[in-house]
Amino acid sequence: MSARLIDGKAAAARLLQEVAQDVAEVRARGIQPALAVILVGSDPASQVYVRNKLRRAAEVGIRSLSHELPADLEQIELLALIAALNANPEVHGILVQLPLPPQIDEAAVLQALRPDKDVDGFHRENVGALALGQPGLVPCTPAGCLRLLQDQLGDLSGRHAVVVGRSNIVGKPMAALLLQAHCTVTLVHSRSRDAAALCRQADILVAAAGQPGLVTVDWVKPGAVVIDVGINRVEHAAGARLVGDVAPEVAAVAGALTPVPGGVGPMTIALLLHNTLSAAQRQHPHAVAT
Ligand code: GUN
Repeated sequence: MSARLIDGKAAAARLLQEVAQDVAEVRARGIQPALAVILVGSDPASQVYVRNKLRRAAEVGIRSLSHELPADLEQIELLALIAALNANPEVHGILVQLPLPPQIDEAAVLQALRPDKDVDGFHRENVGALALGQPGLVPCTPAGCLRLLQDQLGDLSGRHAVVVGRSNIVGKPMAALLLQAHCTVTLVHSRSRDAAALCRQADILVAAAGQPGLVTVDWVKPGAVVIDVGINRVEHAAGARLVGDVAPEVAAVAGALTPVPGGVGPMTIALLLHNTLSAAQRQHPHAVAT
């Protein structure tokens, strides 16, 4: 085993401390940053994620409003709630936990969010801003991965980054962020020819395919920095266990590797609260120290 383990918990704790300080400053100027979290249905994994987000929000002084709604909710009711939150000046960020039940059109819901309250960065205005390199809210998981990479490597300029997976939540925005950081970027997906050979070229390898153990030793160049975004629940005789998209043996060849859990997950939550603070600051410019 040669890879350094990248401590996402510690990195997240440092960022949360900065967020807490800035939240205190904004509060001292009369603004209470607030995040509304909407959960539709009772998917157990989503319930855990939402609970963790609410707990961390409280720890940094961000008020949270939790809306837990039944799985058979009609889309029009969800849109009405979003309209009310959009119009509420005391709410600065709105997060709709995904996935949504099948009767609800996810795209329609995400486009209904006010872009400056869209702390997930999923609205097309924020997606477009990211593609253009303009200011906007950036998706939390890839933004967290970028920070972990910069902690490890400093300037990423000129490095070959390979992202496995092309989801709107992780793969696509991750590729955009790495490009903005001046990497050479390859996006590998299920139709790619010889994914292993493409990944072996990577100085930076981000695995976000949602397939347990997909990235094996022969996919990894010795010394590469490997970020494992996978959170896959695998059933064992002894119960369920969380495993990443990267096989454990990769630790023998990678230069650095994020563990699952304790790598990317804590950073995602920290970036969500960072985005909520920055949404509040943008909505109340007078509450920002100069
Ligand atoms: N479900 C899985 N990941 C995410 C995320 O980053 N944001 C939201 N809202 N839902 C998710």
